[in-house]
Amino acid sequence: MAERQRTAVLISGRGSNLQALIAACAKADASATIALVVSNRADAVGLDHARQAGIATKVISHRAFATQTAFEDAVTAALVEHRIGLVCLAGFMRVLSPWFVERWRDRLLNIHPSLLPAFRGLDTHRRVLEAGVRFSGCTVHLVRAEVDDGPIVAQAVVPVRTDDTEDSLAARVLEAEHRCYPLALELIASGRARVEGKRVLTDGAAAPSGLWINPPEPD
Ligand code: GAR
Repeated sequence: MAERQRTAVLISGRGSNLQALIAACAKADASATIALVVSNRADAVGLDHARQAGIATKVISHRAFATQTAFEDAVTAALVEHRIGLVCLAGFMRVLSPWFVERWRDRLLNIHPSLLPAFRGLDTHRRVLEAGVRFSGCTVHLVRAEVDDGPIVAQAVVPVRTDDTEDSLAARVLEAEHRCYPLALELIASGRARVEGKRVLTDGAAAPSGLWINPPEPD
């Protein structure tokens, strides 16, 4: 079997997507291994998940650096030291500079809790509910310099219910995130997904067929 892609996960908080990635990479046939978890916050709960799994952790507080460049230099040094080939942003709440994004071009993944390119940015679920859209979901994409932009690797659709609150919608989207992120990481780490222009093409993975309508048509 080919050597597993050494992958770092960058977090800022809870780390439930990190947990999903750790679980997926624990499987015998996984193409990636989580070799490092970096948090910009020392109190990130996700750090405990990494430690429990025996994964190296590093806290690099953005507050300890005078400039964004110095912070990103420190993050890059940690990634290089651990011979990282792929980087997953998982609830990492710092905007990265174009320099960092280019340094890791096509090897840097992010997850966002909407169907991009709709609802980029923060407070996603509140804005989804206000807009009255019938479907939301999540997106895993390769990172480009613009926030929440870049070639899409995988998406999941989550219907919005009329009685949804921000919390109930967030919880259902999060379940989808936990399935989508491991899938996307596996596609990239295994080399089955490749970038062509603004799109990601995936070998041997046909899109599901079907038509989803919300609200459903009457019987
Ligand atoms: C996730 O819902 C992720 O999509 C979101 O933060 C949450 C982190 O949860 N990311 C963004 O909004 C980035 N724009 P987690 O720490 O439990 O994985």
